[in-house]
This record gives sequence, structure tokens and C-alpha cells, in this order.
Amino acid sequence: MSSFDDSPWGDPKFSSEYLERADLYVVERRRLFSIVQEHVRFFFPEKEGFSFLDLGCGDGIASEKVLQVKPRSRAVLVDGSADMLERARERLGERDGVVFVVKSFENLLNEGIPGGPFDLALSSLAIHHLDDRGKEGLFRTVFDSLLPGGWFLNVDLVRGESPLLEEWQMEMWRLWVEERKAALGVEEDIFGEILRRYKGTEENRPGTLSFQLEALKRVGFAHVDSFYRYGPFVVFGGRKE
Ligand SMILES: C[S@@+](CC[C@H](N)C(=O)[O-])C[C@H]1O[C@@H](n2cnc3c(N)ncnc32)[C@H](O)[C@@H]1O
Repeated sequence: MSSFDDSPWGDPKFSSEYLERADLYVVERRRLFSIVQEHVRFFFPEKEGFSFLDLGCGDGIASEKVLQVKPRSRAVLVDGSADMLERARERLGERDGVVFVVKSFENLLNEGIPGGPFDLALSSLAIHHLDDRGKEGLFRTVFDSLLPGGWFLNVDLVRGESPLLEEWQMEMWRLWVEERKAALGVEEDIFGEILRRYKGTEENRPGTLSFQLEALKRVGFAHVDSFYRYGPFVVFGGRKE
């Protein structure tokens, strides 16, 4: 596994560009987060003292969505980029019980996850940076950090189950981006840029959904399933019994 610092996310300019463009790059980004909120409302309706982890938190947008549902949560936000964590701190402000931790996933695999145990471990568009072995290792580490009854939810990009399906899901992605561009009056070749980043670099290593669901079961999760899919974008996870 290559180190976080060798990846483009170690470069603040790269991460800024992602944040500016995320609503154009990511299919139905708002809906992905609303599914996370609905999940928390449904599975933790009465829970007092809710606690959650956000892995690869970026500017903290996913955590902000959870905090809208559970404002008094204890939360640990982790990212390999100190710059991203600074943005998360700006977005969320100073809040009791919310901490920001600069660590790469590779660090977490070796050292475990600080600040647990949690009711929810959440990640959004970050774990696809690990190879399949790294993903399964991280799922195990996440499992160990959860309370009984705790959930893991991963909003992420997946690879098609076959080359034909990969072609179809990339086409769905392209059509969505074209639709958004038309709605917003953007003329740039956004999808060409997406393809260069997604296919042309070492740092994006989406795994198939089937591999990841099986990996979750292998590490001990129950109720494993996907809860949404549009092209390569999925929400999936499972519960620790
Ligand atoms: C595409 S952004 C997503 C950010 C945020 N979760 C969101 O949904 O907007 C990916 C994030 O994962 C972080 N990241 C990428 N590889 C990582 C690694 N190996 N260890 C820790 N963080 C990583 C990046 O710094 C970045 O903040």
C-alpha cells in the first residue's frame, strides 16, 4: 500500500479543487448524505449520547449531516490531510466532544482507531483510495471500534462487476455530469477531468461492491447490504451484533 503523503490528497491545492467541484463530480451527493441521515434517524431514534467516527472526513460535510440529526454527538473526525481537517474545523466550529485527528488509514491499520467505541462509523468517498487488502483490513479495524449494535456506513465509488457493467456505470456517471453542467451553465470538460483522475492515477482503487460486501461479512458484520446505487456511487454497510 502506498503512503498517504505520496497521494495527491497530500497536496492542499488538489484537495481544494475537489471541494470546489464535489457537487459536480459526485452523483446525487446531497441524496447520499440524506440516506446517511435517514439511516441514523431510523436505527438510533432514541439514543442518548450518540457517538460516531468519520473516516477520511475531508471538510467535514458528512459529519455535519450527522450532527444535524444528533447535535449532541461525540465525534472523531479522521483524515490524512491536516489541511482538510482545518476546513472541517472551520465548517463545524468548536463543539464539545468533537475531535479532529490527523492520521492516514495506513496509520489506523497499524495503531487502531482512537476515541471509540462508536455507534456509527461513517466514511464518504475515501476508502476507495485503499487496495482491496487495505479495505478489508480497515473494515476489520472499524469493526473493532464499534459498540455492539453499531453500524458501519460507507458512501463510496465501486468498480463494475464486469468490464461491460463498468462501461455502463461510467456512462451513467457521464450523463449525470452532463445534466448537472447543463443545469448550472458549466462548459468545461468536467467528465474528461474526472476520467483523468479516476482512471489515470494510482490513488483511486475502487473495489467491486460484491467483494466489499463479502469482506464485511468475513470480518463479522451482520445485516450487510447496499442501501443505494447510482452508476459507480453506492452506500453500503452492516451492523456489529
Ligand atoms: C474525495 S475526499 C472526500 C471527503 C469527504 N468525506 C466528502 O465526502 O466530501 C477524500 C478524503 O479522503 C482523504 N484520504 C484519502 N486517502 C486517505 C488515506 N489513505 N488516509 C486518510 N485519509 C485519506 C483525503 O485527504 C480526503 O479528505
